[in-house]
Amino acid sequence: MALPKVFLTRLIPEEGLTLVQPVVDLDIWPGELPPSREALLERVRGIDGLLCLLTDPIDAAVMDAAGEGLRVISQMAVGFDNIDVTAATARRIPVGNTPGVLTEATADFTWALLLAAARRVVEADAYTRAGRWKTWGPKLLLGANVSGATLGIVGFGRIGQAVAMRARGFDMRLVYFDRQRKPDLEHALDVEYAAFEALLAESDFVSIHTTYSESTHHLFSDAEFDRMQPGAILINTARGPIVDREALYRALMTGKIAAAALDVTEPEPIDPSDPLLALDNLVITPHIASASRSSRGRMAQMAAHNLLAGLRGMRLPNCVNSEVYG
Ligand code: DGY
Repeated sequence: MALPKVFLTRLIPEEGLTLVQPVVDLDIWPGELPPSREALLERVRGIDGLLCLLTDPIDAAVMDAAGEGLRVISQMAVGFDNIDVTAATARRIPVGNTPGVLTEATADFTWALLLAAARRVVEADAYTRAGRWKTWGPKLLLGANVSGATLGIVGFGRIGQAVAMRARGFDMRLVYFDRQRKPDLEHALDVEYAAFEALLAESDFVSIHTTYSESTHHLFSDAEFDRMQPGAILINTARGPIVDREALYRALMTGKIAAAALDVTEPEPIDPSDPLLALDNLVITPHIASASRSSRGRMAQMAAHNLLAGLRGMRLPNCVNSEVYG
């Protein structure tokens, strides 16, 4: 019997690849960059399963190009805003994602960014390498205190909660905003619920952990930066378009907020000539918050399990549109 045809849009870690390779007819996109739109539409033709990444826009046209045999879309990421899930559901195609296995790595990295921005680690590194370190200076590279400060967490899912756990070790006051209030966690994690505007006004650090959708597009724009404290620091490890990039530039330039640390941008990658990149009070990294070796390995493994379950007509272990089974 012919093996099911699968298109894999990039080489993934061995932990997932070794599960998939022996049991499917696998077409792996060889490029370091994602397939172009044209290449994607071409390569999905006639496939039974698609294993994709957050860099691949998977819409109705891609599903139609694949044809009626497409029975699973498995994304190697927890976020899936690049996939038109409504279109997949309408075609009864289950969509899988990889929640949980990147929570700790992402929270660790959020913490790395928070500390780096607060204590100006990147600036200080550049200063030292440039030979500018002449003496111990009483006012040299002063930064913000993390211990005892207020941390506002926007989006209190798995990652937001893992960030809260880390903040407890720094004796911080914690406030969160989420569409759904979580009273049980308020007590367990010693966090206070705040309305979004109140959180902005009260926090020394604001860390974004909400999902991206139409309702969170540019959730942070001029009005929100106006509400924040002049010494505040914004951290975004969620999705770039949650922050209005131009408004952030204005806020950082004019001192409406003190600094920002971004692992995600709009667009990705950020244009090398983007004026944000000229600012010293911005720390920026290339969407690597989940990039610990074990985390990425487990994401690949989970994506492989979702893919194989879908190909076998079984329920995906992690399905974002379980209504397809109804
Ligand atoms: C995800 O899984 O959605 C992350 O953004 C990947 O780093």
